[in-house]
Amino acid sequence: MSSVIAIPKTAPFSAEDVDLLNRVVGPASPVQRAWLAGFLAGVEAVAGSAGVLTAGAEFAEAGVAQAQPAAPARPAEPLTIVFASESGNSEKLAGDLAKNARKLGFKPNVVDMADLELSTLASAKKLVVIAATWGEGEPPGRATRVYNELMGEGAPRLDGVEFGVLALGDTAYAEFCAVGKKLDERLAALGGKRVVDRVDCDLDFAEPAGKWIDGALKTLAPADAGRGRVIEVDFATKPAAAPNTDIVEAEIIEHVNLNSSRSDKETVHLALAFDGPAPAYQPGDSLDLYPENDPAYVDDLLKAAGLSDDAALRAELIASRDVTTLSAKTVETYANATDHFYVKKLIADGEVKDWIAGRQLIDLLTTFPIALDADKLRSLTRPLAPRAYSIASSRAEVGDEAHLLISAVRYRAFGRDRKGVASNYVAERLKKGGRVRVKLKPNKHFGLPAADKDIIMVGPGTGVAPFRAFVQERRATGATGKSWLFFGDRQFTHDFLYQLDWQDALKDGGLTRMDVAFSRDRPDKIYVQHKIWERRRDLIEWLEKGAHFYVCGDAKSMAKDVRAMLVKAYADVKAVTPEAAEQAVATLEREKRYLTDVY
Ligand SMILES: Cc1cc2nc3c(=O)[nH]c(=O)nc-3n(C[C@H](O)[C@H](O)[C@H](O)COP(=O)(O)OP(=O)(O)OC[C@H]3O[C@@H](n4cnc5c(N)ncnc54)[C@H](O)[C@@H]3O)c2cc1C
Ligand SMILES: Cc1cc2nc3c(=O)[nH]c(=O)nc-3n(C[C@H](O)[C@H](O)[C@H](O)COP(=O)(O)O)c2cc1C
Repeated sequence: MSSVIAIPKTAPFSAEDVDLLNRVVGPASPVQRAWLAGFLAGVEAVAGSAGVLTAGAEFAEAGVAQAQPAAPARPAEPLTIVFASESGNSEKLAGDLAKNARKLGFKPNVVDMADLELSTLASAKKLVVIAATWGEGEPPGRATRVYNELMGEGAPRLDGVEFGVLALGDTAYAEFCAVGKKLDERLAALGGKRVVDRVDCDLDFAEPAGKWIDGALKTLAPADAGRGRVIEVDFATKPAAAPNTDIVEAEIIEHVNLNSSRSDKETVHLALAFDGPAPAYQPGDSLDLYPENDPAYVDDLLKAAGLSDDAALRAELIASRDVTTLSAKTVETYANATDHFYVKKLIADGEVKDWIAGRQLIDLLTTFPIALDADKLRSLTRPLAPRAYSIASSRAEVGDEAHLLISAVRYRAFGRDRKGVASNYVAERLKKGGRVRVKLKPNKHFGLPAADKDIIMVGPGTGVAPFRAFVQERRATGATGKSWLFFGDRQFTHDFLYQLDWQDALKDGGLTRMDVAFSRDRPDKIYVQHKIWERRRDLIEWLEKGAHFYVCGDAKSMAKDVRAMLVKAYADVKAVTPEAAEQAVATLEREKRYLTDVY
């Protein structure tokens, strides 16, 4: 039986360190203690001195400390890693980078750009920035304030700071990786020394990002890194076990259009059941859904390429290739693969950006037709990416299910009916009893506050999805804080998503208040922000009493209009200048009481 030992309070460590040591050494098994004793003895033999130490691989593998050729131990090299992220990809990469950096003897400090104190950058000797682009070439929402400061006149000089930037984006957007590009330029303009060239990653970023991280760490690492001389014992508290984020299959147990048959919209409530336990999602998380392409669209594409008979290619394109996105890069690949005179002219005339706006791959092949072989057609496509959907349920209420709310994207452009890939896969081809592949996408920046805090939720359209999860969770866990929902859509009669749920919640106390705005029910269009204005006195009072404010849904206009309206409401209710009201809302953001999940 292993006895629990305690480091005495008289040990030459701070009280906090004694506490940390006790947490590790206290419950350690005899074998673990013997290893540690041998390890420390070995360190002494090598360095003959104390210092900041990291477990060298050669020690760890041998299980006991071994003497190494003498060389002075050195402190771990600080490395600042800043990420600007909305949906978590850059944040995850920053974590991976930190893990690898630690192994190389760095002491990494990972900072969300949202929390970055700009003045600290000047003293960062080595800096890595991983930044995603959102909106139409904009920074991720919560990074916006610091990003603007960094771009502004008050930014500190960064002379002597060695840096590298990794940019995340999507070639489907005209402003591909714009934020990473601008940050890279800005850091250099402020005097920083670019020691690692920027790489711009598309949606399939895992491999290029992994390579960039390896290369960046090699470049930034001290000359003698990896020789096992820097030794660090990480006593930090272990993070809670991460939830399963593997791709899993789920069965569709409900597939219901929540709009009436007379609505011009189709919004599907999808209930998924898992073979085992549901992924351990929290309210505010999303699921990545793996779609398939519309076979009719793929047939048109194959026909345009003269490949209608290639059944294997058809199956591959339907299942796993992005056959709709048209980027400037695709046009270039097409020009090189075909030597098409007019496509080359389009490029030479600098007209590609304008021409591709609103068009898809099918337009390129039908406007500039030429026979292709399978490899050439494949080379015009990238891997088919999953789409994120906010989870609209709480496990506390629905057990091992997860609910999604998906609006079918349909529009007409350049004489052709267009259909969003994933939303129409769900709306048109998935049926009750069918199966779908999903993956949990946690979002720790959009969670519920403590149970006694009030919440205000603004979620028009499908933006309401996570708030159904919030309301379910708070009801199931008996939260005491009040809840206020602002919802909007086109028509009360045809588009009131989850109407019965909200009515029940208002009755059973899951919701304290609800305000709705149906834009097409009256001649003067009314949206959620107008309801916010109408209710501004109560709303500001809630905020002043500590309520948390959430916005989910459309990023292009709704989220911006809501924020602007809140600033205006603040100025009016508190009778302060617009600048002071702006500061008040910025403070809410800094305190993480103004949270957004917008797309
Ligand atoms: C974190 C997060 C959570 C999300 N949650 C939800 C949710 O709960 N419910 C939900 O429905 N969606 C949600 N989305 C959006 C969702 O991920 C998809 O983007 C959406 O369903 C469209 O995907 P699609 O494959 O159907 O369309 P795609 O094939 O990706 O096509 C979409 C593209 O079509 C073009 N387009 C669309 N409409 C028009 C138009 N009118 N005119 C011209 N071009 C147009 C645009 O280029 C657009 O980018 C969320 C997104 C994120 C990032
Ligand atoms: C609504 C939306 C808007 C986006 N806008 C852009 C853009 O303008 N330019 C770009 O390169 N990528 C854009 N992207 C792609 C993201 O940058 C990409 O998904 C990235 O991996 C997200 O990283 P993050 O999870 O760290 O936020 C956009 C993605 C979404 C969902």
